[in-house]
Amino acid sequence: APTLLVLGTRPEVIKLAPVVRELAARDRPHVIVHTGQHYDESLRDAIYDQLGLPEPDHALGVGSDSQERQVGAILQRLGDVFDAESPSIVIVQGDTNSALAGALAAAKHGIDVGHVEAGLRCGDRTMPEELNRILIDHAAEDLFAPTEAARRNLRREGRGEDCLVTGNTIVDAVREHASLAGERAAVLDDLGLRSGEYALATLHRAENVDDADTFGQILAGIGRFTAETGLECVYPVHPRARDRLASGSVSVPEGIRLVDPVDFLGFLALERDAAVVFTDSGGVQEETCILQVPCVTVREHTERPESVAVGANVVAGTDPDAVHKAGVKMLETPREWPCPFGAGDAAERIVSALAERRTAEVSP
Ligand code: UD1
Ligand code: UDP
Repeated sequence: APTLLVLGTRPEVIKLAPVVRELAARDRPHVIVHTGQHYDESLRDAIYDQLGLPEPDHALGVGSDSQERQVGAILQRLGDVFDAESPSIVIVQGDTNSALAGALAAAKHGIDVGHVEAGLRCGDRTMPEELNRILIDHAAEDLFAPTEAARRNLRREGRGEDCLVTGNTIVDAVREHASLAGERAAVLDDLGLRSGEYALATLHRAENVDDADTFGQILAGIGRFTAETGLECVYPVHPRARDRLASGSVSVPEGIRLVDPVDFLGFLALERDAAVVFTDSGGVQEETCILQVPCVTVREHTERPESVAVGANVVAGTDPDAVHKAGVKMLETPREWPCPFGAGDAAERIVSALAERRTAEVSP
């Protein structure tokens, strides 16, 4: 029976691509289901093509909706797919609505669930992602935790026994695409940027961009940073934030340049050559840490404390003064820290564990 992977957003595609490649390399039967939560060319096709993934075997096409309708639509449509494919296990990644719906549908169908990037907690249950993480970890049989800290979180919730620490597959993805020379020149040239002479920002978290005051404060803080340092800040705008900016209720300071989302390799190149990165993204906190680029997290908390502990990341909150000062401080930080997210063999470990579990199932 195949391993079935449910994915639906940009970070899930990026972080499950190494697992798909490893399954293919070992000739393990697998089925890819894309929920359609992300459907814009820039969030989906560009990344799919670039990572060399095959087109999904099933595209559910759910699109955007309220959270409960989105989860409900994915749940309903997955039942038929599970009937048709009879998977041995369903793999989900991270904390999105697609991952939650994949895990719930499988659990209700009596199919085992494997959770990649299990055990992350920020302590704020009002974030949709935090609730998703908790629910998925408690619906899953196999928990693939990226770090020891994630395992400790799972242990506290009585799930330590089912947990294997694998590292994060984002390290595999970044290492696999490490030779970026061509991409780097192209994307920097296209945007007229010089290595080390610009800042980079991504902002898309619901609690930041859906509130005009909060969104405006963060941008004002980055604006003060650009005014003081003379560094321009490039901000590839996620569709959720694009919609908010289009409403005209948030003003964008002069030093911030809005651009369309960049493809994955181009974005890695932009991160690698940035002087500092301002973000509320989970994946970007990890990638900057891996690439030795200082990061300012514009949130009140993080579920990636490992990057803060090694000195790569600072959690600044959303107050303009704090954002500005954290940016200036991180510019001075020596770019030398160990990578706390594993050695780049997470996919190998995950697929080995899946293979062992199948052997255990068939032996008497
Ligand atoms: C989702 C995840 C978030 C993750 C992010 C990655 C949940 C609850 N949130 O947030 O954890 O960090 O993906 O990028 O699952 N839209 C488009 N085109 C698209 C997709 C979305 O225009 O292809 C717009 C729509 O107006 C939509 C809004 O963005 O309503 C939000 O999309 P949604 O998928 O609900 O959440 P994200 O903010 O993308
Ligand atoms: N990313 C990208 N293009 C962009 C911005 C981000 O390819 O213009 C990638 C980035 O390299 C990272 C992932 O998107 O791997 C992070 O996704 P996102 O911030 O949307 O979600 P999160 O990680 O917060 O769930």
